[in-house]
Amino acid sequence: MLTLHKAAAALPKPSRSRMCEFLRSFGFDPGKLFLHKLILGIETSCDDTAAAVVDDSGKVWGEAIHSQTEVHLKTGGIVPPVAQQLHRENIQRIVKEALSTSKISPSELSAIATTVKPGLALSLGVGLSFSLRLVDQLKIPFIPIHHMEAHALTIRLLNKVEFPFLVLLISGGHCLLALVRGVSDFLLLGKSLDVAPGDMLDKVARRLSLIKHPECSTMSGGKAIEHLAKQGNKLHFDIKPPMQRAKNCDFSFTGLQHVTDRIITQKEKEEGIFLINRVDKIHNAGLCLKIPARFAGIQKGQILSSAAHIAAAVQHTTACHIAKRTHRAILFCKQRDLLPQSNAVLVASGGVASNFYIRKALEIVTNATQCTLLCPPPRLCTDNGIMIAWNGIERLRAGVGVLYNTEGIRYEPKCPLGVDISEEVGEAAIKVPRLKMEI
Ligand code: KG4
Ligand code: ZN
Repeated sequence: MLTLHKAAAALPKPSRSRMCEFLRSFGFDPGKLFLHKLILGIETSCDDTAAAVVDDSGKVWGEAIHSQTEVHLKTGGIVPPVAQQLHRENIQRIVKEALSTSKISPSELSAIATTVKPGLALSLGVGLSFSLRLVDQLKIPFIPIHHMEAHALTIRLLNKVEFPFLVLLISGGHCLLALVRGVSDFLLLGKSLDVAPGDMLDKVARRLSLIKHPECSTMSGGKAIEHLAKQGNKLHFDIKPPMQRAKNCDFSFTGLQHVTDRIITQKEKEEGIFLINRVDKIHNAGLCLKIPARFAGIQKGQILSSAAHIAAAVQHTTACHIAKRTHRAILFCKQRDLLPQSNAVLVASGGVASNFYIRKALEIVTNATQCTLLCPPPRLCTDNGIMIAWNGIERLRAGVGVLYNTEGIRYEPKCPLGVDISEEVGEAAIKVPRLKMEI
């Protein structure tokens, strides 16, 4: 740094552009020198080990990610100790890769931001202890990050979005609607009363054995459902949206999961009859069978012929349920003057918000309410290091939660987001006009 300042002083009254050129001739990137603070973001809250370097202008200098999706698909869900072991095996490599693609040395970092809540305890622990060692070595501040706050603020890295705005966060572990009034100032309007939509879609995909489907074998459950649904007819099965009578902004997905499960069981039985016929033929041909024909329903791992219709129906019902609750949240915020009457912004993020069918359903709602829908691109909707680093920048700028002493810092597997006013929302009992969900 000192050498560079001396070199700069040798130039006669340099303009900024000439100075940049001069520095580039030494192989330095002047963007780093002029004002920009660089933050390393680290994410390990669930099944992705991710890191990124972002500066305070929103420029992404480098990123790296290791996804555990394929491993967890094989075990039929996330096994926390397995996730922990994979984070341990990959974190150093991923952080190194993010730094080396950024072409910056750790000593140039202004701070490290890391997800410490909410998430899987064993996974959060890996990211936190790695980060604490690094901040201790580098003697720089630490910025603990709330995973959902990071999902909510990602949009401000990409678009000029002012506070307040409404955010819908839908992922594998979370489902909530909140009003974002500032960097760490949230009003919680509604949340899932049971599981998150991504969790439900993952279970339906597993129940349908989509991992055996050649086109879906490496996709997350939700993505596989979206892919298969394109080939299906959403009206083939009539699945009613949950909580139609509850005039609040809460969500529920387990009922939907059970209904879908029953449809699958029924279809398995029906298609099993077809199998029994085939099995009988083989039996008659003198082949030995391990399973008596009367028990031979469709076997695990086989895909139902109606799988695409089921995927389309469950995706449609999920989209309608999410859209309706979001519609009510918009009306509530407008009624209370919490959002501007026109051109209010709805942000949708989290893994499930990368679903284009759900986005279209939300667009019908925003068009009807004169709002603007903004969604990060799918790779920034799912977990990543950029959103954590950016949240660090937001906190650094606002001067909130920047720690110079990390003593006593802990991860928190469970942690609500903001002030919960969902009861007040329910008491308002806002009736939502019916919208035609022609998607
Ligand atoms: O945000 P995320 O990466 O991790 C959590 O914080 O949970 O979200 C992962 C979830 C998984 O449940 C996955 O099945 C779902 O997001 N997901 C999708 C799609 N892509 C990922 N759900 C619906 N449609 C998609 N295209
Ligand atoms: Zn997430």
